[in-house]
Amino acid sequence: MVSEFVFAAKAEDVKEGEILTVQVNEVSIGLTRLNGVARAFRDVCTHDDGPLGEGVIEGEEIVCPRHGARFHLRTGKATFPAPAPLPFYDVIEENGAVKVRLES
Ligand code: FES
Repeated sequence: MVSEFVFAAKAEDVKEGEILTVQVNEVSIGLTRLNGVARAFRDVCTHDDGPLGEGVIEGEEIVCPRHGARFHLRTGKATFPAPAPLPFYDVIEENGAVKVRLES
């Protein structure tokens, strides 16, 4: 079954170069923008569960605050010590809202 897109944040609150952490259906997700396009990712590092929402954006990457793994914002590709790419969620923007689909 394909799940619905649900409200995550006001579009104006999702900004380039910043991470907004929100709870959607009790799942913590990080929101940001890359080249104007909203991106939503799992707020848990694939290395050791670091809180990526507390990380920083450098260029096109999220840097984990715990051990410095980097995840590419477009591809999810990870650098050491993260063993796996970062999962992203489908995102749509409509009526001034960013909506995400947690499962497909
Ligand atoms: S928990 Fe993210 S790099 Fe270790």
